[in-house]
Parts: sequence; structure tokens; C-alpha cells
Amino acid sequence: MAVDLLLGLQWGDEGKGKIVDVFTSKYNIIARFQGGPNAGHTLVFNGKKHVLHTIPSGIFHKDTVNLVGNGVVIDPVIFKKELVKLDEQGVDYIKSLFISRKAHIILPTHRLLDAASEASKGKAKIGSTLKGIGPTYMDKTGRNGIRVGDIELSNWKDKYRALADKHEAMIAFYNVDIQYDLKELETDFFDAIETLKKLKFIDSEEYLHTAQDNGKTILAEGAQGSLLDIDFGTYPYVTSSNTTAAGACTGLGIAPNKIGEVFGIFKAYTTRVGSGPFPTELFDKNGETMAKVGHEFGATTGRPRRCGWLDLVALKYACQVNGVTQLIMMKGDVLSGFKNLEVCTAYNYKGETIKHLPFNIEAENVTPIYTKLKGWSEDLTAMTEESQLPTEFMDYVSFLENELKLPITVVSVGPDRKQTIVRKG
Ligand code: GDP
Ligand code: IMO
Ligand code: MG
Repeated sequence: MAVDLLLGLQWGDEGKGKIVDVFTSKYNIIARFQGGPNAGHTLVFNGKKHVLHTIPSGIFHKDTVNLVGNGVVIDPVIFKKELVKLDEQGVDYIKSLFISRKAHIILPTHRLLDAASEASKGKAKIGSTLKGIGPTYMDKTGRNGIRVGDIELSNWKDKYRALADKHEAMIAFYNVDIQYDLKELETDFFDAIETLKKLKFIDSEEYLHTAQDNGKTILAEGAQGSLLDIDFGTYPYVTSSNTTAAGACTGLGIAPNKIGEVFGIFKAYTTRVGSGPFPTELFDKNGETMAKVGHEFGATTGRPRRCGWLDLVALKYACQVNGVTQLIMMKGDVLSGFKNLEVCTAYNYKGETIKHLPFNIEAENVTPIYTKLKGWSEDLTAMTEESQLPTEFMDYVSFLENELKLPITVVSVGPDRKQTIVRKG
């Protein structure tokens, strides 16, 4: 069976968690392929909100296997906290949550290095979630990292000590004021490692190959968004992994010719948290309304998200890089009440009109060119059928489909599982 992918097309927080949860009943296995606890995936059902950081968003479905793939970086301390929350909800994950032996581990000193690096950058800081993501992937590509499989070996603590000592020397080198008590951090870390060890560690690529041979259905869950991709995002204001479709191949061991549907998910407007260019960012009442109505605060850090109009230049780029086959539009309900909506369809790039994403998209190089569309006033949040959606909303959807040359097959009209409209052909 082919493996389907679901990934974010903007700067993250598109609503991946919600849709993976909605789709899970159709899949035997949900597999996270990259990122780590910098992600915050929100699920809402039965009047309760759940935020997952490392654990795949299929975990609330008892018949589904959830796999943390080799491309993911795991902070045992945060992972343990996620497990405690699942315990409180009565979720039995022992038989259904597997971890790849090749996934890398975030050490306490990786988090400290992240903080030291950001502090040293001053105004040019990335706006990292400070979860140690960058330093952990640096150790992975630098061939120094510690993997989940290592903690099954007797000498891994020697390896840990050598790496942590090196990190401490690097932190000192940054010469910034970072206060920490490593002993205390290590107590929590080693305690959390013991919790992690209660889960099943597997050779995940082998597991997935066998599952595919046996006709199991698999959905790969992305984290972050395409514009935060280390290669194709707004570098250096990106994360440290490939968030795009190729990341699912390397992060799970899936061959490119085994990929089926690529679900690309986007908000009906745009948000970004952290630093970096954002051509359609709004600094007016419209932006404030999106932030307020859309509750645009980071699920991991609580930071306010920057808001702006939908950027089709960037969205088209993301569709191309990922080979998107179906689009999913989130948060259309947040735009109810806007008299007019603007959609960026081209950029003025140094005096020239262009329709592709150039190397530089900073405000001094790029001015968005907008197409104005009529808004709608109806509250969409109780709507359950496509036929109930207002004409102006459907015009907005059709306009995007025409521009992107892809079908929008699902529209989401609220955070709850049930507030999801699957369009019929
Ligand atoms: P993810 O990181 O892509 O999983 O997205 P986040 O969970 O970080 O952010 C999405 C936010 O929007 C969460 O608070 C969701 O509960 C909420 N959400 C998801 N879909 C919708 C929707 O269609 N309408 C509204 N109003 N909120 C939504
Ligand atoms: P989900 O999966 C939104 C952003 C950070 C920062 C940059 C680098 O919930 O969509 P990092 O911690 O990786 O060093 O941060 O990337 N960022 C996210 N923004 N959603 C996320 O994940 C993000 N993960 C990282 O804000 O700008
Ligand atoms: Mg999020």
C-alpha cells in the first residue's frame, strides 16, 4: 500500500493535529517523520483540548499504531510529560506507541545550547522555541548524536557524558548569561529515559516496509510547515529539518515511489510565530481581528502569532515542492465578518511583477500584489454540509482552486473534530 502524507504548507500551525485525528480512522498507522517538541498539535473532541508535541496525533484512536519515526528528535522529559497527560485521559499507549531506534535524543545541554545561540544572535535571533531542535540536528548531521537505540546499550552514559561536557564548553564559548543547574536537569533527564524505556523501540523502517507489504494503511504526519523547511523555507528563519514531502522519505524510510496522496494543509489566511520575513503580514485591525478570532497563540510557547492575508505565491511554491495532490483549508470560520478579503497572487519584486517565490522575500525586496474578493458574514462554525456554506465562501474556495490548480477536498470550520466538512467530488 502507498503511504499518504499530511503536511503543513505555510509557517506551521495550519491545523495538522486536528486533521490527522479526523483522518486516523482510515489508517492503521500514523507516523511522525521529523521535528520534535517544537511542534504543538492541537486536537479538540468531546469538549476537551489536547496538545501533542512529539506523539503522533492518532494516539486517541485505540486501534491505530502511532510511530515516532527516525527523523524525529525526542526530548525524553517532554515526552514523559505527554505520556502523563495521556495516562490522565486513560489512553493505553503501551501496545500502540512505538519509537524508532534511529530517532535522535535531545539532551538537556542541547536546550541550553539553543538558548545560548539565540542569546548570542541578539536582534537577529531565529525566534526558536528553545527546545534544542537546532543543536540536536547539528549533532545528528555532525555524527555526534545519541539515538534511542543507544540507550539500550550498556556504555551509553559514557557517550552522554562526553557529549554533554563538549556542549558545556560550547555554551561557555558563547559567552552569554545562561544560568543552569545541569545536575538537576540530568536528574529529570535520566528519570525520563527510564520512562521512555517502557515503550517499544523498533527498527521502524523494517516495521513500515512489512506493514506496507501486508496492505496496512499508513499516514505520515508532518510537523512545522513548508516555509520552515531547512532547504526550501525562509532561511535562516526556519527549523532544522526537512518539513516537506522528501522529509517523509528520509524520516521514515519510505521510498519516493511508495508515496500516495499528499494532503497539503493551509489556513484560509496566514500566520507565523517567531522571526523572519512575512510579505502579507498585517499590522492593522484586520490582522488584530484574525489573531483575536483565530486565538492565534503558539500551542508550544504561547507566543502571539503574526497574522496576514493568504499568500498564493508562497502556497503555490509549497504545493510544487511537496507534490500536493489534495488541499485542506482550515479556519475559514475566522474570516466571517470581513467585508472584503485580499489574497496575494503575485509579488512586486524590485519593480518587476513575479509569481514565484524569489530568494529574498524581505519587505525591502517584495511588495505583495493583491486580488480583492467579497467576504461573508455568516457564522460557519455550526455548518456540517457543503450546501450550507455561503456563496462568497465557496467563491473564495473556487478562486484558490483555480489559482493553485488543485482541489480543496476538506474545509474546516472550527477546532472540533466534528467541525470538518468533507466535500463530495
Ligand atoms: P498544528 O501545529 O498544525 O497541529 O496546528 P496548531 O494546533 O498549532 O494550531 C491550530 C489551532 O487552530 C489550534 O488551536 C486548533 O484547535 C485550531 N483550529 C484548527 N482548525 C480550526 C478551524 O477550522 N477553525 C478554528 N477557529 N480553529 C481551528
Ligand atoms: P507545528 O508542528 C509554528 C518556528 C519557531 C521559529 C522557527 C525555529 O506546531 O506546526 P525551532 O524551535 O525549530 O528552532 O524554531 O520555527 N516553529 C514553528 N512555528 N509551528 C511549529 O510547529 C513550529 N516549530 C518551529 O517559532 O520561528
Ligand atoms: Mg502547532
